[in-house]
Amino acid sequence: MKNTVTTLQQQKRDGSKISMLTCYDYTTACLVEKAGVNAVLIGDSLGMTMLGYSDTLPVTMEDMIHHTRAVSHGLHDTFLVADMPFLSYQTSVYDAVMNAGRLVKEGHAQAVKLEGGASVCEQIRAIVKADIPVCAHIGLTPQSINAFGGFKVQGKDAARARQVVEDALAVQEAGAFMVVLECVPAALASYITEILDIPTIGIGAGAGCDGQVLVYQDMLGMFSGMKPKFVKHFAEIGEIMRNAFATYDEEVKSGAYPAEEHTFKISDEVMDEVRKGMDKAC
Ligand code: KIV
Repeated sequence: MKNTVTTLQQQKRDGSKISMLTCYDYTTACLVEKAGVNAVLIGDSLGMTMLGYSDTLPVTMEDMIHHTRAVSHGLHDTFLVADMPFLSYQTSVYDAVMNAGRLVKEGHAQAVKLEGGASVCEQIRAIVKADIPVCAHIGLTPQSINAFGGFKVQGKDAARARQVVEDALAVQEAGAFMVVLECVPAALASYITEILDIPTIGIGAGAGCDGQVLVYQDMLGMFSGMKPKFVKHFAEIGEIMRNAFATYDEEVKSGAYPAEEHTFKISDEVMDEVRKGMDKAC
């Protein structure tokens, strides 16, 4: 089944959970598509997972377009949402529409995601008016890491929790078709999910959301360092890759690889002719 804005919203009405994963390249996109995941997010988390930055702030529009286009080639039925990077929409409504348009025209995104609540509603309205679906992102918004003072759970006291609820209502009213709730208490996320008509996608927001999203390297155990509380390793692919790289290194150095079966053949007669030809030429 082809996933669209309409089918994702229908899933909320049917009570059928939405699965979403980040994705940044063609090979992984093919695997995610085959697995039947509903939507992929080309997250600006690619700055950390693919480019090695310590946060998402340096990510550019060119980075996002490059990775979004690569992922789009591997997808058919999976819905493709691309992140708007830092300063691609905060600066003006014009920038927001132009840059959202670039992600669709040049990256082949089907929707864009931007961070913030009431403060970015003008941008959401304008992008939606250009017929580009917008997924909002509230709670912990990593592009505001310097303002938040780190990656911290949001909405723990009554005033901050009310602020998250107000942001959720504001982005829905502005026309967002879906909203990501990042690192908010589970009961707050469930409450927001109940009162909104649009689907909520949680990351560190508990089981009450309409769907879940995870960074794929996190859920595959590809990072050995930090493991946030909400991350579950669905496989230990990092360990499998490390072992395979080490075995390759050993076999290349010992001469065990490549073996006979990995080698292209040429007949002895042809090699004799090559040698004779070379002898004459020398
Ligand atoms: O950039 C990203 O990967 C995200 C998800 C963590 C929601 O925004």
